[in-house]
Amino acid sequence: MNFPQGPETPDQYGIVGHPVAHSWSPFIHGMFAKSTAQNLVYRLFDIPPDNFRREALRLFTGGVRGLNVTLPHKQAAAELVNELTPRAERAQAVNTIAFFEDTSLLGDNTDGLGLMADLERNLGLHLADKRILILGAGGAVRGVLGPLLERELREVIIANRTPDRARKLAAEFSDMGQISGCGFADVSGPPFDLVINATSASLQGEMPAMPAGLVGEETVCYDMAYGRGHTPFTLWAKSLHAASTTKGWGMLVEQAAESFLLWRGIRPDTQPVLQALSQHT
Ligand code: ATR
Repeated sequence: MNFPQGPETPDQYGIVGHPVAHSWSPFIHGMFAKSTAQNLVYRLFDIPPDNFRREALRLFTGGVRGLNVTLPHKQAAAELVNELTPRAERAQAVNTIAFFEDTSLLGDNTDGLGLMADLERNLGLHLADKRILILGAGGAVRGVLGPLLERELREVIIANRTPDRARKLAAEFSDMGQISGCGFADVSGPPFDLVINATSASLQGEMPAMPAGLVGEETVCYDMAYGRGHTPFTLWAKSLHAASTTKGWGMLVEQAAESFLLWRGIRPDTQPVLQALSQHT
């Protein structure tokens, strides 16, 4: 006897973080799924750090096929998976996990590709020979240092609230180029070509106090954080007459497209999503 076929159950994906309610990833992956005709659902999972390992494994055993990972879990995720892609291995941080039945959990990091696509393709920047200041030394920075340093930069300085963390991170990447780490108060001019905010300070509505002289009229300022209106970082940059200020929407969408490619084998077009988001933000 033939039973009528119901619609197939959608494959499950999502993002784990803490906090995570502010994330636009469900919207972005929802649009990707529609435009590529993929049958999937994408949800938010708020998991506090103490429970990360147990709860993430519970999601996979419950049928979830892929997760994005955001703060503060990117380094813990690198320890959770069974296998790392070369770029996640270099970063020691994971923002994408794929559950393949044969290889179990594969950890990847698409943050670097996402940032590069936004800086170079969407904003048209040429990074060779540039001086770059990065604020923050957490999981997000780990993901972007490898691809940035491949661009033959003149210099990268990582400045962090906890200076030792910046120094250690710089040392991990010193084989790739001219890179050093320090505290916020230790950075000095002349103005940088590019300043990237990768601290999570704006989630708390804060901008760390920085010395004068780091931003000039030709400095491009990029905030990995995103939200409506200005962030504390873009306000700071504007007050110093930066050449331009950009929030991290482009990086968010581009890294998501790379995650989608890993999970589904198809890279969605990012332009319609960027356009849709520009109307919301
Ligand atoms: P992510 O995955 O977004 O990098 P993370 O690994 O938790 O998240 O790192 C957060 C970063 O933001 C760190 O560099 C942190 O500084 P510390 O290493 O000193 O903790 C930085 N950060 C968070 N809140 C901050 C604040 N209020 N002022 C300045 N830096 C802050």
